[in-house]
Amino acid sequence: MSPVDEIFSRFTAAGDERYIGEPVTVAQHMLQAAAFAEHDGAGDELIAAALLHDYGHLVTDLPEDSAERGIDTRHEELGFAFLERWFPAAVTEPIRLHVAAKRYLVAVDPAYREELSPASLLSLDLQGGPMSDEEIEDFEALPHASAACRLRRWDDAGKDPDMTVRPLESYRGLLDSLVG
Ligand SMILES: [Fe+2]
Repeated sequence: MSPVDEIFSRFTAAGDERYIGEPVTVAQHMLQAAAFAEHDGAGDELIAAALLHDYGHLVTDLPEDSAERGIDTRHEELGFAFLERWFPAAVTEPIRLHVAAKRYLVAVDPAYREELSPASLLSLDLQGGPMSDEEIEDFEALPHASAACRLRRWDDAGKDPDMTVRPLESYRGLLDSLVG
């Protein structure tokens, strides 16, 4: 099975599960994030990152209401570990950092917290809450920090139950072109 076939089969198998606390499925959520990335003129790597940013949720057996049970699934690390076998850092680093980007944005942008959904605020606490000054400095020094922040904003926006998106299959060529 090719990497893209494997990814698509996980989307199909697990993506229809509800994204806990949100009005969309995990697959809809990721397709919406990718659509926002395209709309914002992101490059192919970052569109792929948006499309796959919650891949970790598709490969874990942890219950979907983990945050409500007080468990941090570390889905960003899990997704990164699966995807780094195939994709370059420009795809996988923003994915690995998309939770850190939430902790960063909450710390540096007071208005950002207001945009977060209740479920996202709940997991924020489990993920460490707002970054400290030292963490902010370390985060800003990372090469993919600003890409991770862009991804984060598409992630937060991709929770619309009425949005129409392109089918997953339409991203096959883009993903194939990035597989190393
Ligand atoms: Fe997400």
